[in-house]
Amino acid sequence: MILEIVKYGSPVLRQKGAKIESITPEIKKLIADMFETMADRHGVGLAAQQVGVAKQLTVIDVRAVTDRPSTLELKGKPVDVAEIMPLVLINPVVTPVGEPVKSGEGCLSFPEIFAEISRPESVDVKALDAKAKPVEFRCGGLLARAVQHEADHLNGLLFIDRMDKKTKAELQPELDELQAITKAKLQKK
Ligand code: NI
Repeated sequence: MILEIVKYGSPVLRQKGAKIESITPEIKKLIADMFETMADRHGVGLAAQQVGVAKQLTVIDVRAVTDRPSTLELKGKPVDVAEIMPLVLINPVVTPVGEPVKSGEGCLSFPEIFAEISRPESVDVKALDAKAKPVEFRCGGLLARAVQHEADHLNGLLFIDRMDKKTKAELQPELDELQAITKAKLQKK
């Protein structure tokens, strides 16, 4: 089922996600629906907050992006990124490894808004997968960026919080407009 994507201005985007203790049928359904929703919107990642659920759950799939490479290491060995795609991360812990690099970023909760964001090039990730099995890997490039963007969502952080001041100031009118539209819609509900 395709879910409605929550837009900037909705309070749930600022909520820290609750830890998931077990994979219930509801969580399984949510994971399937999030993948369907993300594919429908041609997204690379989607966090539970973006479909209105404040939980530590995100889905990622970078395979459709061919012009921005990703790297993956499992137990210190480079492997094909496709090996862990599509990726479900539950209760992820993300540790930066590489130097910060700037690259373009967008977010399905901020339609039409894009900016260069500085983030560490690589990260170590520990999480549970869709079967509550522990997973551990190091990744770089687009996948590392996606993981960090989504892990931020799970903590109520948004990519606008990572923008430099000048970029954010330039986008402020658009952000204010989006926020106002979202709030007006929420009041009608
Ligand atoms: Ni996002």
